[in-house]
Amino acid sequence: MIVLGVHKGHDSSAAIVKDGKVIADVQEERFSRVKHSGNVPIKSIEFCLEQVGVKDINEIDFISSSWENTPKELSIVFDLADPYGKTGSIAKQIGKSILGKSIGSYKLKLPIYYPNYRLKNKSKFVNNNHHLAHAASAYFTRTTNDKCLIFTIDGAGDEMCTSIWMGEGNKIELLKSYYKEASIGWAYSIVTEGLHWIHGDGEGKTMGLAPYGDPEKCKGVLDKYFPVFENEKLVRESNLGESFYWTESGSTQFHFDEAKEVEALITKYGREDIAAEAQRKLEETIMNLVFGWVKKTGISKTAYAGGVMLNVKLNQKIWYNRKDLITEQHVYPNPGDSGLAVGAALLEYYKHNDFKGYEFNHLYLGPDYTNDEIESILKIRKIKYTYLENPSKKAAELLAENKIVAWFQGRMESGPRALGNRSILMSPLKAENKDMINAWVKFREGFRPFCPSLTFESRHDYLKNCKDEFFMITSYDVTDHKRDKIPAVVHVDGTLRPQMVQKETNPRYWELINEFGKITGESIVLNSSFNVMGESIVNNPKEAIRCFYDSGIDALFIGNFYVTKD
Ligand SMILES: [Fe+2]
Repeated sequence: MIVLGVHKGHDSSAAIVKDGKVIADVQEERFSRVKHSGNVPIKSIEFCLEQVGVKDINEIDFISSSWENTPKELSIVFDLADPYGKTGSIAKQIGKSILGKSIGSYKLKLPIYYPNYRLKNKSKFVNNNHHLAHAASAYFTRTTNDKCLIFTIDGAGDEMCTSIWMGEGNKIELLKSYYKEASIGWAYSIVTEGLHWIHGDGEGKTMGLAPYGDPEKCKGVLDKYFPVFENEKLVRESNLGESFYWTESGSTQFHFDEAKEVEALITKYGREDIAAEAQRKLEETIMNLVFGWVKKTGISKTAYAGGVMLNVKLNQKIWYNRKDLITEQHVYPNPGDSGLAVGAALLEYYKHNDFKGYEFNHLYLGPDYTNDEIESILKIRKIKYTYLENPSKKAAELLAENKIVAWFQGRMESGPRALGNRSILMSPLKAENKDMINAWVKFREGFRPFCPSLTFESRHDYLKNCKDEFFMITSYDVTDHKRDKIPAVVHVDGTLRPQMVQKETNPRYWELINEFGKITGESIVLNSSFNVMGESIVNNPKEAIRCFYDSGIDALFIGNFYVTKD
């Protein structure tokens, strides 16, 4: 059975599941180069079909969408029932009533150069609830199928904001859902907007700024925006005011006038303290919710998705406070809306098949380019290059010389993190490297931390009380004896957000880190995404080359080729 998952909205994406395995997953922004693109994921769908060798859409069993109602654009792409109904478009009706004659159609329709995936009898288009698709991404990527509490927490989707589910076998059942009275994501985003960062994009910056502030100095000033849970019960609703929307990058972004109130609080207390208080409230609220439900149900295995779960400090807080109440904390590594295509696809697949558990151990699910393809692109640009049998060794040597290295290998990662296939790397050994990589390459705010990749074998040497962490989705405290050894990747509060790299999952990247360890004594490197601030992570070799020459990166390793600026 083949299921195509499609998400049209903030972070549009497509994914394909064949025989229970995710074969491909990609966000449209990687093709359109518009970050968080909300366009119809036409290119992503095309890529997914190629990956399973499907030329005719009707070879697909189900197309599974991430919304309860079919987005108008998807109705047109898949040639479903007329999304305008019998009366035609509103614009056409208005034109008729004003002019007394038709002024033509303003209906949305695909230009002829786009593929029209007309569905016939066999393929079925299925709508799903947004939060249920989030829940499916978390539940159906667990290693087991036993009873599990699932928390889906975002701004809003299909009007749900915070939902609690129970999964068992191949069933997911809704236990409780909260709407705007408990949108923890929107509360945090109001603060993000108050800090003048984009709602639905800048929340990571709020989290990065928080450790520089002291929440005690303004404790309680953000209380009205956050709901209050006691045990599992909502005892006080939040007061967010009216929600408005705005279109940014082709998708809906929300806005609240209350951001103005937060702006005034920032003037009074300072940016750092308000960010710190927002983070404290987020953690307190979700900890009460999660531990309340764990105690009420007695279910100790938990899974999580929804954009709020990108908050790695929250995830650390849950993990460090789990005691014996939580025995499994599985956060789907692409928990925001870009993970909905996978969620919708797995959800539909397991409506028809038994779920026994899934070894979901990597996110290398995007496009790949052969050495031949890369070489021809280098040749056309008259770029000098060297073929290396072992690029890992040379890259490690350059990192040990404190060079900035771009690393482009294999299939692109899905989700927001670069995990060693589209990465910019540097040595973590010098504190000033953080400023250097910002000044020469990333051009982003100086307070934001950089994250490390380390060999799986060395994890306990660097991290306190850690679990297996392959996707940079949870932060941990650095061990005391390593804190001063790797200052470029330790945040001001002594935490780091690691990627543990296993030899069998990504041998070339593992070898690079291991080689760096042989030279320097530290099996850990600074890993930042291969892009500059505000742009999507590079997808293809052309974009990699452009980013390389448009920044202060010293060397580019692309497939087996090595390029410098000498
Ligand atoms: Fe969502």
